[in-house]
Amino acid sequence: MNAQSQPSQYLFVCTRTRESSARESCGANHASGALVKAIRDEIKSRGLKAQIRATSSGCLGRCQDGPHALAHPSGESFSQFGLEDVSKIADSLQYGKSSN
Ligand code: FES
Repeated sequence: MNAQSQPSQYLFVCTRTRESSARESCGANHASGALVKAIRDEIKSRGLKAQIRATSSGCLGRCQDGPHALAHPSGESFSQFGLEDVSKIADSLQYGKSSN
């Protein structure tokens, strides 16, 4: 048996893209795929890759507030963020809830 350690935290970032332009979606309207990559890069640069995993997810039900992300297990959520907020999100994952 090969035991592997699991991250203690996850950040699910909605990258859902709807074909219809009738409804907002994080992937289509906010380029959230690039945000996932930027958050992963920040986590890696902090040496936290084994502890925190950022991953793409489907719709998190907050489409109008996109892009939207949800941390597990803390339950903290992040809405309407951009590349300029990546460091602050990483701080929150690393040190605990932000004041947002
Ligand atoms: S499409 Fe991103 S929260 Fe619904």
